[in-house]
Amino acid sequence: MAHNDLHETASALVAEGKGILAADESSGTIKKRFDSIDLESTEENRRAYRDMLFTTPGVEEYISGVILYDETIRQSALDGTPFPELLESKGIIPGIKVDLGAKPLALAEGETVTEGLDGLRGRLAEYRELGARFAKWRATYSITDSLPSDDCIWTNAHALGRYAALCQEAGIVPIVEPEVLQDGTHTIERSYHVTCRVLDAVYTELFDQRVDLFGTLLKPNMVISGKGCPVQAPAARIAELTVDLFRRVVPAAVPGIVFLSGGQSELEATENLDAINRVDGSPWPLSFSYGRALQASALKEWGGDPAGVDAGQAAFLHRARMNARAAAGDWSAELEQAVTV
Ligand code: 13P
Repeated sequence: MAHNDLHETASALVAEGKGILAADESSGTIKKRFDSIDLESTEENRRAYRDMLFTTPGVEEYISGVILYDETIRQSALDGTPFPELLESKGIIPGIKVDLGAKPLALAEGETVTEGLDGLRGRLAEYRELGARFAKWRATYSITDSLPSDDCIWTNAHALGRYAALCQEAGIVPIVEPEVLQDGTHTIERSYHVTCRVLDAVYTELFDQRVDLFGTLLKPNMVISGKGCPVQAPAARIAELTVDLFRRVVPAAVPGIVFLSGGQSELEATENLDAINRVDGSPWPLSFSYGRALQASALKEWGGDPAGVDAGQAAFLHRARMNARAAAGDWSAELEQAVTV
């Protein structure tokens, strides 16, 4: 696989004013989302929901790529067009989640390791046939007074390295997603410290495992206060610490950083991304790869009802546009009020 193709795909995913939609919820996670609107999680409902999102007119102006789930990459729009083909016809790059989830890490109470390396080479070849040009693997780290352990940090970093190398061998751009979870009472300073250790380990492993960083993207958490911390740092502090940290530990060879939203509300995720882009000195495009923060309103407006498709698409388009503005450091609260349809 020519490395140039990987470089081109990675750069296209962080093209100016564009970001990624994470629509790769596993069967368990999408059931939780559907429960919130009282909708049964059948294969057809899952298909109809993704159909609503992917066929949103004009969304390709703001969305560069979509991460699909194993079931979704095999599904089709109502007119029979396979989803990967539909996305490509709009100029959106199809991607695929390839990890098999975070499982308890042996002998490490309260910590997880992400599984899915066994057989990954074969699955990547099949996904590429199905149209995937990039992939995602998510590792998670909990913060407590004593966690994460070095064991958890290095075990997950090693797996991310193996995943990334296998992806590049298959001609697929790996999105490397180490997520330091926001759950907990920790301060933003502790989030900074832990995220720093995690990213340092990840880049050591990627380097040692010969991964070509120019053909990768990083999908990290923002440096942010724990959900239960009594003092919630404001957007300006989140931005300052996030950019400072990345400048210290993320190699400039990485073509772009696309944040996860990690349980922030839609507005928080947009406001914080905007603040991050207003800080000078970052060598990378800093954009988004949001799941919940792009979909929460759209899911509610759609409501599982064909009559809700237009409202769902309007809500999705609005969030995509707002986050695209934030990725340029050009968002304002007033823009949220603008009519979107
Ligand atoms: P959230 O933006 O909802 O955190 O999802 C992003 C993602 O892909 C998590 O793996």
